[in-house]
Amino acid sequence: MSAKDVNPNGPKHVAIIMDGNGRWATQRNRPRLFGHQAGAKRVRQAVETCPSLGVKYLTMFAFSTENWKRTQSEVSGLMALFRRYIQREANYLHRLGTRVRFIGDREKLDKKLQALMDYLEKLTENNDVTHLTIALNYGARDEVTRATQRLAVEIAEKRLRPEQVNSEVLASFLDTYVLPDPDLVIRTSGEARISNFLLWQSAYAEYEFIDTHWPDFTPEVFASVVARFGGRDRRFGAVKA
Ligand code: IPE
Ligand code: IPE
Ligand code: MG
Repeated sequence: MSAKDVNPNGPKHVAIIMDGNGRWATQRNRPRLFGHQAGAKRVRQAVETCPSLGVKYLTMFAFSTENWKRTQSEVSGLMALFRRYIQREANYLHRLGTRVRFIGDREKLDKKLQALMDYLEKLTENNDVTHLTIALNYGARDEVTRATQRLAVEIAEKRLRPEQVNSEVLASFLDTYVLPDPDLVIRTSGEARISNFLLWQSAYAEYEFIDTHWPDFTPEVFASVVARFGGRDRRFGAVKA
């Protein structure tokens, strides 16, 4: 697909719940981390595919606030993978013109990983080809809770009056304050649930639940899901004239 084939009604912001790495590995009699490594490779391809699909914003769910409940070895393996991923991919993402941001509570992540996240954000801060947001230690309830705490401080210190709080003001306290809302949320691997991802921001998103495991999410699969989006009639609560 070339840039001229881009559907103007296609999604501008696609958010992906990258699920199924563990099952993909288990089907191959390999450890779960093998699946996570295979999954990480698909992230680069998804970013590369965005311009040809007309997707400007790509948000990827990499680690949830609930994923700490997994075994210590899986959690530390994932954290090591995130560190290696940033080290290996930073220059390539920068060359592609990708602007990288992270959302989630980074204070609970190890200092080395936090420093790499800061480095990658800074390195790519003037890029504008594709805006890649990685949700790492992200949970929508946690995000809204942290936003509410900051908002409460603003009110307590009288920089904001309670009656000034509306949905725009609240959204400006969320981790995603600079991003448009997602138009399309894709979850791979067959589960039809949201698992605490972008609850506020996805109020009017279209959802696609596909059976493909994340390590099998090729550019062709991505293109076919985006193409289906073009056929949907989004009404945002109104009646179409
Ligand atoms: C998604 O794959 C990646 C993370 C949550 C980090 P899973 O690890 O959830 O894979 P399944 O769902 O067990 O197959
Ligand atoms: C959601 O997947 C989180 C990520 C993809 C990072 P999970 O595999 O953690 O979700 P549940 O446990 O099936 O709801
Ligand atoms: Mg899962």
